[in-house]
Amino acid sequence: MVEKKEKIKLVITGAKGMLGYDLRRVFGADKNYKIFAFDKDTLDVANLQQVKQKIEDIKPDIIINAAAFTAVDDCEKKKYHKKCLEINGKGPGNLAKMAKKTGAVLVHVSTDYVFDGNNQKGYSERARLKPVSRYGKSKAKGEIELKKNCNKFFIVRTSWLYGKNGDNFVKTITGYAKKMPELKVVNDQRGKPTWTYDLALHLKKLVESRKPFGVYHFANEGETTWYDFTKEILRQQKIKTSVKPCATEEFPRPAKRPQNSSLLNTKFTRMQHWKKALSQYLIDVKPKKKKA
Ligand SMILES: NC(=O)c1ccc[n+]([C@@H]2O[C@H](COP(=O)([O-])OP(=O)(O)OC[C@H]3O[C@@H](n4cnc5c(N)ncnc54)[C@H](OP(=O)(O)O)[C@@H]3O)[C@@H](O)[C@H]2O)c1
Repeated sequence: MVEKKEKIKLVITGAKGMLGYDLRRVFGADKNYKIFAFDKDTLDVANLQQVKQKIEDIKPDIIINAAAFTAVDDCEKKKYHKKCLEINGKGPGNLAKMAKKTGAVLVHVSTDYVFDGNNQKGYSERARLKPVSRYGKSKAKGEIELKKNCNKFFIVRTSWLYGKNGDNFVKTITGYAKKMPELKVVNDQRGKPTWTYDLALHLKKLVESRKPFGVYHFANEGETTWYDFTKEILRQQKIKTSVKPCATEEFPRPAKRPQNSSLLNTKFTRMQHWKKALSQYLIDVKPKKKKA
């Protein structure tokens, strides 16, 4: 007689977001997982009562928190101060409390914006948190709250995300390039662009590994600037629009950005180079031809 294997119960929060969508694609393709996907309309991570009820009902093996308030500049507006802290700061703490109570492993996605970006060598998993924006501070608070409330966790910091299901830099800059004769893009901020599908694959690898709990840095390999990233985005799509470099001061934004927030992955298998990831993403988003 063949024994029926129990499926791994996985809760995904923020499931309608850019990363959430690819987490559903990646884990959903593996029959060993039973997925419970929630977005803020069905599971508000800032609401402890809701988190308690859902997690106690399901008793998941793994929770992946892809929920966040990600509008970096909005976080600077007074009307969003409380909201971004509740979602990004308190939310991970709520999930951690319930993960501990039910024995689930909690995977939480954090950001390169927890660093100030002044270290030209980039940031390892052990680097000290020093955020320079309200968004960064709220995400740093999330990491602290999570560590305070559970032990079985992976905090995975990532950077410069783009993916099929969401507004992102690749889509925006491509749209501009198709309309304008010339683009000006900042050339003094460095980081690692990361495709959410690759990140989702890597998160799956991590939860299936026997790696110790703790903090990890997952980003596509190779660092770049927004200017060089733009040139590559246009080159791969054969768009001829001219691109000129400029300084951050020419495009003042409400939230300060770290100057070099390159994440160094010293603890886990490296991800593929960002140029390769970009080419696969562009294939992924290309409209498929309908069969005649
Ligand atoms: N995007 C980046 O460049 C980047 C870089 C580094 C790290 N990260 C981190 O990576 C993770 C995923 O980011 P992403 O780009 O996929 O973000 P995203 O597309 O904005 O997705 C976040 C999702 O969370 C939902 N959400 C908002 N408030 C919620 C709440 N209270 N409870 C439950 N869900 C809520 C959002 O819903 P609504 O859209 O309806 O509000 C959205 O569906 C986040 O932790 C983010 O901080 C992102």
